[in-house]
Amino acid sequence: MSDPIPFKTVARHNRPGDAWIVINENVYDISTFHHPGGLEVLEPYLGRDATAAFFAQHNLDMLAIVEKNLVGVIDQEDEEWKQERQAAKNRATDSGLSARRAKLAPISHVLNTRDMAQAAESVMDPAGWAYYASAADDEVTLRENEAALGRLWLRPRVLVDVSKVDTSAELLGVPSSFPLYVTATALAKLADPEGEVAITRACAKVNVPYMCPTLSSCSLEEMTSARAPGQTQWFQLYVNKDRAVTKDLLQRAETGGCKAVFVTVDAPQLGRRERDMRFKAPQKSSVQEGDTQVDTSRGTSKALSSFIDPSLSWADIEWIAGVTKLPVCLKGIQSGKDAVLATQRGAKAIVVSNHGGRQLDYARSGVEVLIEVMAALREAGLDRRITVFVDGGIRRGTDIFKCIAAGADGVGIGRPVLHGLAAYGEAGVVKTITMLRDEFATCLMMMGCPTVADIKEEMVVTSKL
Ligand code: HEM
Ligand code: HEM
Ligand SMILES: Cc1cc2nc3c(=O)[nH]c(=O)nc-3n(C[C@H](O)[C@H](O)[C@H](O)COP(=O)(O)O)c2cc1C
Repeated sequence: MSDPIPFKTVARHNRPGDAWIVINENVYDISTFHHPGGLEVLEPYLGRDATAAFFAQHNLDMLAIVEKNLVGVIDQEDEEWKQERQAAKNRATDSGLSARRAKLAPISHVLNTRDMAQAAESVMDPAGWAYYASAADDEVTLRENEAALGRLWLRPRVLVDVSKVDTSAELLGVPSSFPLYVTATALAKLADPEGEVAITRACAKVNVPYMCPTLSSCSLEEMTSARAPGQTQWFQLYVNKDRAVTKDLLQRAETGGCKAVFVTVDAPQLGRRERDMRFKAPQKSSVQEGDTQVDTSRGTSKALSSFIDPSLSWADIEWIAGVTKLPVCLKGIQSGKDAVLATQRGAKAIVVSNHGGRQLDYARSGVEVLIEVMAALREAGLDRRITVFVDGGIRRGTDIFKCIAAGADGVGIGRPVLHGLAAYGEAGVVKTITMLRDEFATCLMMMGCPTVADIKEEMVVTSKL
């Protein structure tokens, strides 16, 4: 290793095209690094210490992307650097979130998940909101997820004794207070400084499983060690081009006590989220004034494709099953044929999902595909061999009921949890899930179903889909 680098030297590389930054004790040359969150956000940190800013939103595993750009180690005796690091820490902690939250109505005023979304938008940093809300291209699939649920109608039974209603369910062999889990979404610290740890604690309080994401803001170990006794966590996996990295992640998930792995199979490349991209477009020129013209959109996909391998195929799923003891499940199934293949290849569960409309625009809604999937599994005699989950656009207790009636074992929610977290922190997540559970209990009573097992296929009318 070369000599420790004085901070003065780092500070000279402070322009796009000639850019060094410090994270932890390491100095990186990021001149050619295409940042997935946009190049603009890195600009204030060029030639400076970015440790606090980086860990405010990213986990340590994400640093692997720039490992090859390591220049050396900072001189840790350098007074100038010590001052810089302290100043950077102070800058990063003052986000103004608590001031904006102070203006919110008390949490008891929130009546449903739509109120919660409004509250979240009013307190979130607009860039973070754009990232959470955005979806692919014209966002047709995003809207269709909710719209399709709106075209399903209910056929209730009357004069059934519903004086006692039990919402509880079993999801992949573990008990849950109702047939719902919190799905994996990247970068929870954009919503709250406690990130995925706050989501973990909230899920324990309301007793639903949590699928921890690969692209979490908190580290995998922070998430798993925040788990309460008896609580269930699963792990969502993006498969890295470097299989050793994936193997290591799987082992850490297993050691950390995750009970299943969900391989995301609908993201060979991340969708074009134009709302996200447009958000910062006007500022772009300031970055490109340097001597390098960088095509951000192509660059980000290149940077991320080492993180998320586009060559992933069925053979890799077998490889994953061989290197982990965890049940292997597939997230992002979108046809009856692939559901049958997944079952034949030994998947323990599938999630029928279009990634919240963020990948392929004009992918059909989760519920529409669910109906096709259940028919295909039944025809192949496989419907009892696999657990089927669905996600996308679940915003009401009646939505949960419709999906269970259409054949799902449980549903996942993504954005509603992020909204609760952004608006009121951990308490907001508890509130979001509790509202959905109460709505689901009411729906069971109205439908004449004392338990989840009493939900029948004929109770949902799909002819107007
Ligand atoms: C070595 C690699 C990376 C470095 C040095 C880095 C650094 C940074 C910095 C300094 C910020 C600004 C934080 C702030 O404004 O307070 C940021 C924001 C962000 N980064 Fe990274 N990052 C890296 C990798 C990644 C990766 C791999 C992803 C995604 C998979 C990512 C996604 C984001 C996002 C979404 C934002 C938020 C943008 C915004 O709020 O406007 N970053 N990053
Ligand atoms: C100029 C600004 C931005 C540009 C050009 C941009 C572009 C992109 C593109 C193109 C991708 C997909 C990678 C690919 O296949 O090409 C992507 C993914 C992503 N974007 Fe944006 N984005 C921007 C701003 C943001 C902001 C403000 C956030 C968050 C606050 C964000 C968060 C992310 C994250 C975390 C991913 C990858 C993880 C995932 O969604 O599963 N981006 N971005
Ligand atoms: C902000 C955001 C980030 C996401 N990140 C991931 C991810 O990293 N991995 C993944 O498999 N799915 C990811 N998803 C997709 C969700 O797991 C889920 O499929 C989707 O959000 C469900 O739709 P809903 O948001 O309407 O509930 C993300 C979704 C959102 C909104």
